Amino acid sequence: MSELTHSKDYIVIKALDDGVQVIGLTRGTDTRFHHAEKLDKGEIMIAQFTEHTSAVKIRGKVVIQSSYGEMRNDQD
Ligand code: TRP
Repeated sequence: MSELTHSKDYIVIKALDDGVQVIGLTRGTDTRFHHAEKLDKGEIMIAQFTEHTSAVKIRGKVVIQSSYGEMRNDQD
């Protein structure tokens, strides 16, 4: 990511249920959980990827908006 310590893009996560978890995974050789944010229905998290966070795991029903488009995981 050149000299930037975080991406300029944000992802928007909207919880469609109570108890959604947004879990941040560490960057580097060691890939582990470093943060779990709990969202209740209707709550929104706006997040970036940073020097600490390389991946995000989401548990529960959400709508996500990113530069890749909008996706939701509430329909099989
Ligand atoms: N302190 C974390 C970081 O700078 C905060 C964070 C950024 C985060 N993006 C995230 C936590 C995504 C969970 C999910 O990396």
